[in-house]
Amino acid sequence: MSDHPSMKQRADKCAAAIKRHEEVRIVSHIDADGLTAAAIMCHALDRLGIEHGVRFVKQLGKNVLDEVADTNIPTIFTDLGSGMLSDMPRGMDVVIADHHQIDQNGNIEYHLNPHLFGIDGSTELSGSGCAYLLAQALSCPGLKSGDLADLAIVGAVGDLQARKFGKLVGCNREILKQGADRGVLNYKKDLSFFGKQTREVFKLLLYSSDPYLPGLTGNEGASIGFLRKAGIDAGGERWRRWIDLSEGEQQKVVSSLVQYCISKRMSSYHVHRLVTEVYTLCREQEGTEMRDASEYSTLLNATARYGFADVGLAVCLGDRDKKLAEAHDLLKDHRKNLVEGLKLVREKGITEMNHVQYFDAGSSIRDTIVGIVAGMSLTNSRNRNMPIFAFAESDDGLKVSARGTQGLIRKGLNLADAIGACAAKVGGTGGGHNIAAGATIPRGSKDEFLELLDTAVGEQLS
Ligand code: C5P
Ligand code: C5P
Ligand code: ZN
Repeated sequence: MSDHPSMKQRADKCAAAIKRHEEVRIVSHIDADGLTAAAIMCHALDRLGIEHGVRFVKQLGKNVLDEVADTNIPTIFTDLGSGMLSDMPRGMDVVIADHHQIDQNGNIEYHLNPHLFGIDGSTELSGSGCAYLLAQALSCPGLKSGDLADLAIVGAVGDLQARKFGKLVGCNREILKQGADRGVLNYKKDLSFFGKQTREVFKLLLYSSDPYLPGLTGNEGASIGFLRKAGIDAGGERWRRWIDLSEGEQQKVVSSLVQYCISKRMSSYHVHRLVTEVYTLCREQEGTEMRDASEYSTLLNATARYGFADVGLAVCLGDRDKKLAEAHDLLKDHRKNLVEGLKLVREKGITEMNHVQYFDAGSSIRDTIVGIVAGMSLTNSRNRNMPIFAFAESDDGLKVSARGTQGLIRKGLNLADAIGACAAKVGGTGGGHNIAAGATIPRGSKDEFLELLDTAVGEQLS
């Protein structure tokens, strides 16, 4: 990045390490950011003629690192690795392109991470963005500045890096600009709701969760009635999509929504979230998920978080046929699971301690999506003054997901620090970002862990 010569130098150094080899392995994370990061590396390595295999993991445990060490194939970790520096295999080339908080007890030579350069890895650069910088540094034949920026932005949006300011900032923005200059990306202010490319308009309101629309969210009749009152008709047997409305119609909906939200006494924070910057992938067909960075990232999450990372990766690498059809089926299930997950949380309720709130989903919500449900629950919660922790059963113990708010970060909250330290005390491991983090802890240690967390978060916020 132009503003960060030392990070550029580090990317060059990592790239040189990769170019020494004819074969490498990529290990990446099973979410939209991890998928796009891996896809960016695949694109670049293909162009360089470097053979590569990809492996996706839920989290980077010692078991995975032992296997990596055993194969002795030079390995590029994307969207993970920085939290496990002390356990990295020695005596072989390991490159890490990650944006998670860094394990301070370890050190590694080929390590590209925004935190090393004073850049915030939770808002200014994603895992896919790091992979993009590395791919640019690899200076592959035929790869121009801005190529692959679309995938990088899908990862950043998938990690909710645009949430803090309602738009991408920092290095993410530089990548966005490079993509726009190259003609692969477009950005503009628009209604923030999910599904503008693919869903019938009333469904944007019906399923809105960020912000939640009192009286409209979850109410089909009311959502349709609202649009009609704003002067928008279905326009056919099937309702039109957002992209089918004229600009004037879109403006009518936005101003009616703003008025509605104010009349419902929604906070200005929530009203402001109605309109945010949105990102369009210009090379993708209109009316498809891939055209919109947010819809694309959800489609990818629907694959990798359910054990079908190969499907998501194929879509990122250009499959618009069989694998895309599979991804669509997975997306339907993912949506259903999120709706059911949110319902479960509403029914079971959230328990408040002194400084944290939590729910335990048992085995009713998958460990790989419980963090998304926790985040959505917090967005809509009356109590946004405490971070939320969610528990779910997983193969290797009890999965914990944590989500906070920007307001709490300003007061000193750092979920990765808190969850990492408390998990270690009960024999687990964890990490992540200040605003979103996760851990796996031994079954049976939940109560002790919660007490530790309550104290740790209390100290951070005091
Ligand atoms: O592992 P990774 O960095 O890819 O995941 C980041 C996680 O943080 C995502 O699940 C994302 O949804 C979450 N996040 C959040 N709120 C933010 C920023 C990130 O919940 N403001
Ligand atoms: O799984 P979840 O979406 O809650 O993860 C939130 C963040 O915490 C992600 O960035 C993830 O990579 C990180 N995490 C971690 N170590 C774990 C579990 C999650 O660093 N054991
Ligand atoms: Zn990430």
